[in-house]
Amino acid sequence: MTTISRLKDLEQDFIDNYFLRDVPLGHLAGVDEHGMRAMLKQRRFVTYEFTPMCEYFDVSLDDMASRQVVSGIIGEEFGLRPGGRWPLILHSHRRAYLDELEEIGVSRHEALNEIPSRRTMRTLMHLQAYIFHLGHQSELEQLLFLRFSGEVLTAAEYRLHFERLERLKLLTQESSKFLFRHIDYDVLALDGGTSHADRYLPAIEERLNDEGDWRRVRGVLKKAATIRREFYEQFC
Ligand SMILES: [Fe+2]
Ligand SMILES: [Fe+2]
Repeated sequence: MTTISRLKDLEQDFIDNYFLRDVPLGHLAGVDEHGMRAMLKQRRFVTYEFTPMCEYFDVSLDDMASRQVVSGIIGEEFGLRPGGRWPLILHSHRRAYLDELEEIGVSRHEALNEIPSRRTMRTLMHLQAYIFHLGHQSELEQLLFLRFSGEVLTAAEYRLHFERLERLKLLTQESSKFLFRHIDYDVLALDGGTSHADRYLPAIEERLNDEGDWRRVRGVLKKAATIRREFYEQFC
């Protein structure tokens, strides 16, 4: 088994057997449309932590190739095309999230008036504390967190939410402006390009050598999934 397939298996195992298992994620499968709107209004605050996280790692990572991956992804999040010319700003993923909320019946006004709940604030605090902690850990752990928390795990959540909203007849693959697009964009290669998650693989593979490294991998995956589960517990 190659290093990359072992990593992907481990990630999938964490998603299936730890993150998605039972409460609180299993609970979301039965949530009605009001519940989905309430959850996604709060999930927006976690989503918006993504680019600050990337910016932080852009500073703490020394490896130039990895920093190029991170800054390329930040650019795309803000709607900049790689090597883009003026006008640079297209449509940020942040705005696309608001479009998605509107599509499922949450007005822009309502979304922008929402404030983070105590549990959401706690999640954001734990997320930031862990990012600051990782800032002085190995590049392997930093890159893994960017890949797993920012892309792989996020895509698994968005898939779950999209499928629920599709069953509730609030979204289709065509009408979805955010969730459906992120499922592939983050984890699968598109149009001959490389997914966000896969862009981190060469640097991760280079740094993943012995069983001590694999222990660190499991530590990062577990922490990322724990923080996210903690967020969803508020909707049970
Ligand atoms: Fe995005
Ligand atoms: Fe992404």
